[in-house]
Amino acid sequence: MARIAFVNGRYAPLSESMVNIEDRGYQFSDGIYEVIALVDGCLVDETPHLDRLWRSLSELKISEPLSRPALKLIIREVLRRNYIYDGIVYIQVTRGVAPRDHAFPQEAKPSVVIYAKRKPLKKLLQKAKTGVHVITVPDQRWQRCDIKTISLLPNCLGKQQAVEQGAYEAWQIDQQGYVTEGTSSNAWIVTAQGVLVTCPASQNILRGITRDRILALAQSCGLGYEERLFTLEEAYQAREAMVSSATSLAMPVIKIDDHMVGNGHPGDFASVLLEAYCLYMKEKSVPVPGLRRS
Ligand code: PDD
Repeated sequence: MARIAFVNGRYAPLSESMVNIEDRGYQFSDGIYEVIALVDGCLVDETPHLDRLWRSLSELKISEPLSRPALKLIIREVLRRNYIYDGIVYIQVTRGVAPRDHAFPQEAKPSVVIYAKRKPLKKLLQKAKTGVHVITVPDQRWQRCDIKTISLLPNCLGKQQAVEQGAYEAWQIDQQGYVTEGTSSNAWIVTAQGVLVTCPASQNILRGITRDRILALAQSCGLGYEERLFTLEEAYQAREAMVSSATSLAMPVIKIDDHMVGNGHPGDFASVLLEAYCLYMKEKSVPVPGLRRS
């Protein structure tokens, strides 16, 4: 069955969906995106994801492509047309099509692309049972990592290095030796004293929707946490480590570079948080009407 995408007002098979070569997303990475998880036919934390999408648009001065209710309708229609029940929906908005010029065009209509992909939760949970490895790379990004832009080249280079070394993710290390975040996830440790730590929200990281949800869950589970910088040295000594994102949930990390984390198995904090997150997704997400399994 052909996958169907929404591209600038039309639903069409992915293979026939095209963008103009003068789209500023294509030429300048002049655009933003969101990835929202769909679990058991429910969109997870759609509202904060759309809030962040609107914030990214506003930070880059890209005009609103359509109203929020319209965007929500299209997201649901894409999911229905693709019979996706477990997976992700990808939403991208670029500044639009205009003759190539670095300065913003006087008039350009933002381009909108929405499509979805199947991604079974079961596989992810299987991976979480054993945990994953991360490597570390220098953080080579710009100073506005809080905007979810499609300009992801340093992230791609880091992830590729991770893949080449058989790792799941690369943690990016800033010039002072602090861990900022993964290439497509937020980074966490649990200190020897049993405190959950993640980098504070600033312009140096993407403030993950999953990150914020995990902090709220940590609080309701009575787990101590701190939003503060931590160094790679501290991470090497950590009792536990974890990455979080819409596509990784709360994934235990058992090795950082060549250093085994704790006893080399997923720890208690990660297990409690993953369980709490799964329960949250199950109980608090609203089903997409009319979704059918393929
Ligand atoms: N990435 N940090 C970066 C650099 C990310 O790209 C992401 C998400 C996150 C976690 O954000 P959230 O919890 O809202 O998913 C942190 C998505 C999944 C991606 O690019 O595919």
